Amino acid sequence: MKFFVDTADVDAIRELHELGMVDGVTTNPSLIMKSGRNIKEVTKEICDMVDGPVSAETVALDAEGMIAEGRELAKIADNITVKVPLTWDGLKACKTLSDEGRMVNVTLCFSANQALLAAKAGATFISPFIGRLDDINIDGMDVIAEIRQIYDNYGFETQILAASIRTANHMKQAALIGADVATAPPAVIQSMVKHVLTDKGLDAFLKDWEKTGQKIL
Ligand code: E4P
Repeated sequence: MKFFVDTADVDAIRELHELGMVDGVTTNPSLIMKSGRNIKEVTKEICDMVDGPVSAETVALDAEGMIAEGRELAKIADNITVKVPLTWDGLKACKTLSDEGRMVNVTLCFSANQALLAAKAGATFISPFIGRLDDINIDGMDVIAEIRQIYDNYGFETQILAASIRTANHMKQAALIGADVATAPPAVIQSMVKHVLTDKGLDAFLKDWEKTGQKIL
């Protein structure tokens, strides 16, 4: 499973990138707002650092507007993925932009039917939002599993990009179901390293080592 980082925080991306953990980046208008930076400037900085796809989201509501914004965002770098919402106009924009050879990420997906439409419209990525489904007591992972089955049934090449990931357990479940990509905030990716028995074991080893009086260096 590929890891995308869901943030516009350049320093946080750099830290994970140095560890080889970053296969791509996703941003959205809320994350751009949080960064306090200009969308084109910050996205360019991210694209210069990361080789993989970097999603930049359109904000127009009509297909024409989304297409124009998508073309403008795509000028930032070759690895830009234009992000459009899962509306009828978003699907029209997806079709046009993907026919032009651009990568398109269809976002705000909450059902398998929506994902089926996005694949038909030529989406490169479909972004089902797990956490926001969980928030309304619908198991987001069920939706990922349904999309996986439908895409596999018909050989769709659209990649499932599990989004709105809130916990390390979400990452594990997405990987078990076979999501192609998971995008998560840096803190969630870092939290995957944690295990109480690792901490406990390390503590015991260090205490015993101290008793030996030895040094390695
Ligand atoms: C994905 O591309 C979105 O930017 C993101 O995963 C949304 O996550 P949230 O529901 O935590 O805002």
